[in-house]
Amino acid sequence: MNMETAVAPRPDHAFESTVYHVRAGGSGSVLEIKDLSLFYGPAQALYTVNMTVEKGLVTALIGPSGCGKSTLLRCINRMNDLVDAVKITGQITLNGEDIYARAADVIALRKRMGMVFQKPNPFPMSIFENVVYPLRVDGVRDKTVLEETCERALKGSALWNEVKDRLDQSALGMSGGQQQRLCIARAIAADPEVLLMDEPCSALDPIATAKIEDLINELAGQYTVVIVTHNMQQAARVSDNTAFMYLGRLIEYGDTEVMFQTPKCGRTQDYVTGRFG
Ligand SMILES: Nc1ncnc2c1ncn2[C@@H]1O[C@H](COP(=O)(O)OP(=O)(O)OP(=O)(O)O)[C@@H](O)[C@H]1O
Ligand SMILES: [Mg+2]
Repeated sequence: MNMETAVAPRPDHAFESTVYHVRAGGSGSVLEIKDLSLFYGPAQALYTVNMTVEKGLVTALIGPSGCGKSTLLRCINRMNDLVDAVKITGQITLNGEDIYARAADVIALRKRMGMVFQKPNPFPMSIFENVVYPLRVDGVRDKTVLEETCERALKGSALWNEVKDRLDQSALGMSGGQQQRLCIARAIAADPEVLLMDEPCSALDPIATAKIEDLINELAGQYTVVIVTHNMQQAARVSDNTAFMYLGRLIEYGDTEVMFQTPKCGRTQDYVTGRFG
């Protein structure tokens, strides 16, 4: 056992700073998070988080329940703005643009990111209309453009062969796994700069989960994915880099293989080996 793992958790203020050993994607970073702190009213949920997300790679966010994974993800697309009494300090840039700048257009920003949630949330409309929804919102009417986008997105989300003959049927008649792939198709239809996923497989059975994991592996390279997961094996299977969070801090952020095999922090090791969490 590593010496550090034998030590009792230290008081909050005594956390060491983040340990980094991130794998570079080769194409630079999409997101840069600098000194990000977040308070829900008086309660602090994120403490000076610093991390960059590499373009074209899959980045997993892991850590015990309540450590701030969803909060961090929701900061990226400014969904926390919708929460009352939230206070955010620090900076996040998306391809160099400060997303919390006073002049930032939040709606336009959210369009540059796709979001996939825990439970599939298809809209009560046809499969086709679900996929092209982001384009409809933008006022796109050209039938050819809509049809091409629908096909590309459904192929991209490995759903095309299963649904190509029933695009006009309700999305609500699909299985849970199909619905989640539909939500991924909708999220990639508008070619997002980053795809955010918050436990996208937690409502799915193992077979549907395996399909989503395959899909994430296929999307890597073309898309930049940030995925929150409770499932260690899943993080190990789908991601290039993994960020381990604990009590609102980013403890260690680095190459997924190293994170799971030879993590540099005792606390990461305890978590990935199932000693707590
Ligand atoms: N809307 C909110 N208002 C107040 N506190 C919140 C809100 N959302 C989250 N929190 C608190 O912030 C902390 C971080 O929560 P968050 O949901 O980000 O954790 P998480 O790591 O995603 O957990 P889980 O793995 O259970 O989803 C928790 O203490 C939580 O209770
Ligand atoms: Mg969460």
